[in-house]
Amino acid sequence: MNIVDIIEKKKSGKALTKDEIDFFIQGYSRGEMPDYQISALLMAIWFKGMDNEEIANLTISMVHSGKTVDLSRIKGIKVDKHSSGGVADTVSLPLVALVAANGVPVAKMSGRGLGHTGGTIDKLESIPGFQVEFDIEKFIEIVNRVGGAIISQSEELVLADKKMYSLRDVTGTVDSMPLIASSIMSKKIAAGSNAIVLDVKVGNGAFMQSLEDALVLSKTMVDIGNSLGRETVAYITDMNQPLGETIGNSLEVIEAIDILKGKGGMRLSGVIETLGGESLKLGGKAETLEEGKRIIRGSIQNGSGLKKFAEIIEAQGGNNNIIKDISLLPQPEFKFVVIAPLSGYLHFVQTKSLGRLANFLGAGREKKEDKIDLSVGVVFKKKIGDFIDKEEEIATIFANDKRKGEQAALDFLKYIEIKDEQTKPLPLLYYRVSKEGIEKLFNEG
Ligand code: URA
Repeated sequence: MNIVDIIEKKKSGKALTKDEIDFFIQGYSRGEMPDYQISALLMAIWFKGMDNEEIANLTISMVHSGKTVDLSRIKGIKVDKHSSGGVADTVSLPLVALVAANGVPVAKMSGRGLGHTGGTIDKLESIPGFQVEFDIEKFIEIVNRVGGAIISQSEELVLADKKMYSLRDVTGTVDSMPLIASSIMSKKIAAGSNAIVLDVKVGNGAFMQSLEDALVLSKTMVDIGNSLGRETVAYITDMNQPLGETIGNSLEVIEAIDILKGKGGMRLSGVIETLGGESLKLGGKAETLEEGKRIIRGSIQNGSGLKKFAEIIEAQGGNNNIIKDISLLPQPEFKFVVIAPLSGYLHFVQTKSLGRLANFLGAGREKKEDKIDLSVGVVFKKKIGDFIDKEEEIATIFANDKRKGEQAALDFLKYIEIKDEQTKPLPLLYYRVSKEGIEKLFNEG
């Protein structure tokens, strides 16, 4: 077998066999194939796709590129959560703490920023001292003792995803259904949880632009999870505007703290409540989704989620004084305010461009070896349908490069549209996909 033949085969649109998939995944993980050949193969997959059998074989091969975690020593139903990637998608940090605070162990494996989207691991690394790579024993020990931990792929765990993830990030091959499904599900399977909650984003800031594509991705991942004995539920949620109010790593950590203090915006809180409630239901701590959501809200109100977040930070080597003193997080040198040029209703947001704007400031990578700037980003609190006054301060750009900050403040206005006529707020949740089927959660029109 040889890698060039495999690239040619996929380029001509044929399905790869299990052996061919194992050959390139294990070979690349062992360092036997150069990045340029795997980049070509990833691009061929991007163009030609994969059938369900190929995606399942790819996922399993990626799981076997490293060790797998056996969480059976931890009592209870262990739950993991993952997002398909969005902008201002600050769900995981508060959610892990809130679910763990209610006695459902959360053993989460996350990724870094990908394309225009942010990554949980980069966000967590803005906390001074926070460690994201542990050996399996330590990971299990933290989940057991504290109730929750978040780690990244590593040499030991899903090495194929660690390598391909950073390659996809800089080769325009992120937004591919088979590559997203296998990347997410390989991490979830390897991390060992019994139940998995997926947040599949749809819209102009997501990798899936249409509800049809988001449903295919959701169904594919739900089927892979359930067929491997992990109860898997996916929610399709809106990404036609930034979910939260901040884009950028340390800014999103600050927003996560605000959420846990009950000071978060409605849309971000809404997704956290739903996915957190579902996690509690899957973890056996709530009879219904509504009960789960009530418990999550209660843990925000009584401060137990925030307390758990502090414990997780400490257990992973981070300085949890950031909760009381956010100035301990990386700070940008410059701030630029964006002023509304006219009054009217916020009608449209080009969300992917706002994610790219944060990357332009340094929050994401253009090349694999790029070091990101954890302090920079954008604060934008307006949501579609909100009224804006002329000359109102609508956004703030945080930068360490004055020229880039000035440029970003000008570019920001190209990515939003303000109109006279009132615009309806967007739905937040579209579908719930589980082994029972597809449930519609919104009203059209
Ligand atoms: N999250 C992942 O882990 N992988 C992807 O490909 C996209 C989002």
